[in-house]
Amino acid sequence: MFRQFLIFSLALTASHLIQAQATPASTVGPKAKPDEAPEPRITFNFVHVDGPYIAMTFDDGPAATLTPKLLDLLAARQIKATFFVIGQNVTEYPEIVARAAREGHEIGNHSWSHPYFARLSDDAVRSQLKRTDEAIMNAAGIHPKLLRPPYGSITARQKRWIHDEFGYDRILKNTRPGSIVLSHDIHPGTIEAMPATLAQLQDKGFKFVTVSELIAMATPPPPKISPTPAATPTGSTPPVPTTAPRD
Ligand code: NI
Repeated sequence: MFRQFLIFSLALTASHLIQAQATPASTVGPKAKPDEAPEPRITFNFVHVDGPYIAMTFDDGPAATLTPKLLDLLAARQIKATFFVIGQNVTEYPEIVARAAREGHEIGNHSWSHPYFARLSDDAVRSQLKRTDEAIMNAAGIHPKLLRPPYGSITARQKRWIHDEFGYDRILKNTRPGSIVLSHDIHPGTIEAMPATLAQLQDKGFKFVTVSELIAMATPPPPKISPTPAATPTGSTPPVPTTAPRD
């Protein structure tokens, strides 16, 4: 029952994703005047790109057997993904994180023990981040450029000092379906559904990139010109791999 639900929610994510690619994003258009240099964005909860690019993200691992199984699947399809890891799991399975990094996947910080940051003192948040960064460094010799706070829980004030103090390029909230797909490599159902999900997305012409690669390609969401019906059937239409129509 639980497994069914996981598979269902994953499929739902994938179908949202496909719709999101094909319909104009409904977010607010760029407000900056064209001649103003836009402020670099730190926090992302949605990334718009031209073209059929997506970033698969896997949170809460590494897990003893599921993450290696997932790495095998990704390697077989030559797909690069992003892993938001839990520090205490990293210290338990450092070799899995080392393997993921060695095979070209991106590693992000997802805290030490998965708390709500917004409920913690600054010192507690600092410890969550620092211990996890150190665990990743010890395991894979890299400093993570991305942070995804558990549950997307982070205050505006925390975002500022965390960015200044830890230097993460990006803080992801990822609360909307879009070109960043959130999954968990700690649930067997997710990993079981993954071969079919990846095959379906590849068949539709999607190209897989890491989160940092995706953000580097980010463009402003197309402005809403006319109320295009959002219900365009897209399930059977692969996205045009070269240039999607740009509004
Ligand atoms: Ni999580």
